[in-house]
Amino acid sequence: MSERLAEKYDLRVPRYTSYPTAPHFRALADDGLYRGWLAGLDPSRSLSLYFHIPFCDEMCWFCGCYTKIVNRYEPIRAYLEALAAEVRLVADALPGRFEASHLHWGGGSPTMLAPGDWLALVAGLRAAFAFAADAEIAVEIDPRDATEAYIAALAEAGVNRASIGVQDFDPAVQAAINRRQPYEVVERVCGWLRRHGIDAINLDLMYGLPHQTVGKVEAMVDLALQLEPARVALFGYAHVPWMKTHQKLIDEASLPGSTERWHQNAAAARRLEERGLRPVGLDHFARADDPLAKAAAAGHLHRNFQGYTTDAAAVLLGFGASAIGSLPQGYVQNIMALKDYREAVAGGRLPVARGIAFVGDDRLRGEIIERLMCDLFVDVAAICRRHGADADAFAAAFAALGPLAADGVVALDGRTVRVTEAGRPLVRLAAAAFDAYLAHGEARHSRAV
Ligand SMILES: C[S@@+](CC[C@H](N)C(=O)[O-])C[C@H]1O[C@@H](n2cnc3c(N)ncnc32)[C@H](O)[C@@H]1O
Repeated sequence: MSERLAEKYDLRVPRYTSYPTAPHFRALADDGLYRGWLAGLDPSRSLSLYFHIPFCDEMCWFCGCYTKIVNRYEPIRAYLEALAAEVRLVADALPGRFEASHLHWGGGSPTMLAPGDWLALVAGLRAAFAFAADAEIAVEIDPRDATEAYIAALAEAGVNRASIGVQDFDPAVQAAINRRQPYEVVERVCGWLRRHGIDAINLDLMYGLPHQTVGKVEAMVDLALQLEPARVALFGYAHVPWMKTHQKLIDEASLPGSTERWHQNAAAARRLEERGLRPVGLDHFARADDPLAKAAAAGHLHRNFQGYTTDAAAVLLGFGASAIGSLPQGYVQNIMALKDYREAVAGGRLPVARGIAFVGDDRLRGEIIERLMCDLFVDVAAICRRHGADADAFAAAFAALGPLAADGVVALDGRTVRVTEAGRPLVRLAAAAFDAYLAHGEARHSRAV
């Protein structure tokens, strides 16, 4: 069915790291809404923290993340001061001292921070929040910037999980995306991480990049597996040059088409599974003994702005420019422009710019979409019962799933939806059937596969 579906369903739908999705957030006039939400949180429940470090020293042309290229440390130093101040502002706005169970440092590249600054920042954090004894502290690493001193500082700060941006090992692909990074560089960083006790290693791989072929993608997976990662994320390159103008530097003629992308994804996934990794959700793979694979098997997987996670906390506080927070009341996103972010914090304001409060059946639909994205299965009637809603309200969504069922992407039984193994790469399409905003949506998204 592959080729046919790859062509037929070359639709552009969200990746559902939240629901409603970020394009539907609205501008906030001030920080009043967020302050009210923070004040209403329960201090007896642990929460999660996300820190965004929006700096890199070189622009990777494929990059879809929010980052700025800097070649001096001064802007980073100024940013870290603002970040520490934001932590104090948020801690003051909370009704007590909260325990943090998950911390994630993303970017950009947290690897841009000087080791000493890392330790100072984490010391400030420990003053504002209690860390759970088994807290997961994860960091994204650009291996080109990492030094052993940096990795040692991470270990000292309590980091116990690392995610390395690999993308591909092939020199021609690396040249076409401006990310020159030989295998040995990644291998060396894995060695340092393990030497310093951080052995929960994730590798980010990509397909759909310029000049990639099925053969190259298989070779990429083989090399990656030599490094014995606990997890692998396999992302399809999202080409959105209308949003990320630097992606125009990528020669579109060198990009694989949708059928080729489908084959690359399938070949990489097959290879990863043959070597013993378990598929997790849309695009992750994990060793059977890894908490992510265990959570997936037990139906406890979650999805947030960083992708798939074992994090079950109801609250994720986002810190830093562009960071998104997820609270029981809705989502908030911080100011993106670095100067405006710094000024807001200096003025004692929580630096939120946009957000959305849940209304109507947002939470119900959000739960249906999260279960589908995580479990590839959802019992809509059971979720409706928990929310005191009528599953018949989703008759239109089930009708919209009809063509996907006819094509073997989903199997429908009563008010349940199961995404078939062959349909796994298209799970976003099944989720989209439950998205009430998409029908009115103006947002453009990248390919589903
Ligand atoms: C938030 S980024 C930051 C990681 C880190 N700074 C690095 O690149 O080394 C995490 C991952 O997102 C993925 N990514 C970035 N841009 C993407 C795009 N346009 N399409 C799909 N995945 C992308 C890459 O695999 C990257 O490693």
